[in-house]
Amino acid sequence: MAPAADHNRIWIGPSVLSANFLSLGDDLREMEAAAADYVHFDVMDGRFVPNISIGLPVLEATRAGTSLPIDVHLMIVEPDRWIRAFREAGADRLTVHAEASPHLHRLVQEMSAEGMVPGVAINPATPLSAVEEVLPFLGRVLVMTVNPGFGGQSFIPTMPARIRRLRTMIDEVNPECRLQVDGGINRETIAAVVEAGADTIVAGSAVINQTGSIAENLAALRARIRAPSHPS
Ligand code: DX5
Ligand code: ZN
Repeated sequence: MAPAADHNRIWIGPSVLSANFLSLGDDLREMEAAAADYVHFDVMDGRFVPNISIGLPVLEATRAGTSLPIDVHLMIVEPDRWIRAFREAGADRLTVHAEASPHLHRLVQEMSAEGMVPGVAINPATPLSAVEEVLPFLGRVLVMTVNPGFGGQSFIPTMPARIRRLRTMIDEVNPECRLQVDGGINRETIAAVVEAGADTIVAGSAVINQTGSIAENLAALRARIRAPSHPS
């Protein structure tokens, strides 16, 4: 049987969507000083999701402002048209939505050929079978734990069971593939997703907010992962 992924090494990446765009450089420096594992960058087109966010020029600025790996989450239709442009603007890792492409295998190949670790995201109502055939080729599957489009939404409570099922699929065919979760992850929800098998966390409003510094908020999330969830 394939070895299980190393759940002890959990990556947490703050989402630029929650940053202050007037002083993005300061927020990026804070993320780096706080030893964030990566930066998550959300691109929304107003068609795949009901919101428009940021795109190539802001990605270029983000690339110039940090040496952390940049993980770009494309919530756009026709992602195949944009692979090279996002690599050239600074993406290290690129995630496309399974629902946005009828030729997912080709798209995954193209992302790899461009030198980016390929990832595929799935919306809360998309069956896990949507990623099954491409799983051997992925560096990451992103399980949306809210409906994509906005930061600051509430975690959907049925998601841990889904994460657990996907963890089993990943461990069987590609244990190196990371299982990322995105949406509504905070001090109350992080332990449940990690316990279910997530190893890569996106955190927007829980890390960049008015109640604490990025370093304090990241430390608080990490503490929740380390704390035992069951008395032994
Ligand atoms: C939502 C985005 C998320 C968002 C998460 O569609 O994909 O990355 O920034 O924000 P929080 O952590 O506040 O739910
Ligand atoms: Zn995202």
